[in-house]
Amino acid sequence: MLEKFFLSLLLRLPEEISHSIAIFLLKYSLAPSKKKGMSSIKKINFFNFKLTHPVGLAAGFDKNAEALPGLLKQNFSFIEIGTVTPLPQIGNSKPRVFRVPEEKSIINKLGFPNLGASKIFNNLCKIRKYHTLGLEPLIGVNIGCNKNTKNPLKDYEKCFEIFCSVADYITINVSSPNTPGLRKLQLQNNLAPLLKTLSNKREEYFKKNKRKIPLVLKIAPDLVDSDLKSIVKLIKSYQIEGIIATNTSINKKIIQNKKYTKLQGGISGNALYKNSNNILKKLQKFSKGNITLIGVGGIDSGEKVFKKIKLGANAVQVYSSLIYNGISIVDKMVLDFIKLSKLNK
Ligand SMILES: Cc1cc2nc3c(=O)[nH]c(=O)nc-3n(C[C@H](O)[C@H](O)[C@H](O)COP(=O)(O)O)c2cc1C
Repeated sequence: MLEKFFLSLLLRLPEEISHSIAIFLLKYSLAPSKKKGMSSIKKINFFNFKLTHPVGLAAGFDKNAEALPGLLKQNFSFIEIGTVTPLPQIGNSKPRVFRVPEEKSIINKLGFPNLGASKIFNNLCKIRKYHTLGLEPLIGVNIGCNKNTKNPLKDYEKCFEIFCSVADYITINVSSPNTPGLRKLQLQNNLAPLLKTLSNKREEYFKKNKRKIPLVLKIAPDLVDSDLKSIVKLIKSYQIEGIIATNTSINKKIIQNKKYTKLQGGISGNALYKNSNNILKKLQKFSKGNITLIGVGGIDSGEKVFKKIKLGANAVQVYSSLIYNGISIVDKMVLDFIKLSKLNK
């Protein structure tokens, strides 16, 4: 009841102010905590881990690892912080996040505003004092490159080096539409050297520390079949563990109400659901089920979690639905998913 009232207030404020309030409440553990004891009938295989259920938090919500004290008390089985870039950056000019309430969707052109790798590393270190690696919720770190970098590959390498000791897994984000040129890193000739470098870095880390850090590639929903096939091929040859499908879409046709089509940025939420499902289905087909798939895009119910799992996802992530429904939607999604899994056993 209180959450509903509070949510209706937040939805009246400008998007980024609402978000800052949510981050503040979570940072100081002022948000209500999860219901306890929710566990799937079967443990979820997630790289070399086992999860109690498949619902995680997508990147972009807690870019700076500030809200983790409160987020760890929610019902996520894994949380992805970032996108982190080596140097701090302010992102694009405001306004840069827009609600599309009729379609429970969001358009954003943030452009990776973040505190930079060293400050975010310090934030994560504070958490690691009481929430050790391998413990659920797992904490993944989503890495990217600075807008004005001369060498994107070096940026990813730097981020990997900084975060390898504190991340349960690392996501290579080559799919945000708001950093010029970033999506080109998904093309075979650019992706191969990037994956090779990070895979070698991971091997070096393993030799010294005997811990293999799962690497995951986050891709766009606007790719064609030939792109997807070459991505799957590269993922296999460089032994990257998983793919996150998908990031936001630049395809304005997925928004029904044409008054929003002039806005620049990536679309997420309900409008993205169908297209991200299509990509997931194709990845499952092209990979023959050999890669860990994480389904993201438009999930706002246990039924939609269930659908993504049926399409081939091992686990899922959510973001936009938290904006419209509040964080307690996670409890409901997990409970409903568990009920559905029992019914369909
Ligand atoms: C405001 C906003 C900021 C985001 N920032 C990032 C980001 O920094 N890195 C990233 O990989 N994805 C980012 N995303 C994409 C989400 O992680 C997710 O892939 C996408 O929103 C689809 O999921 P959803 O429909 O549940 O929101 C962002 C999404 C939103 C709405």
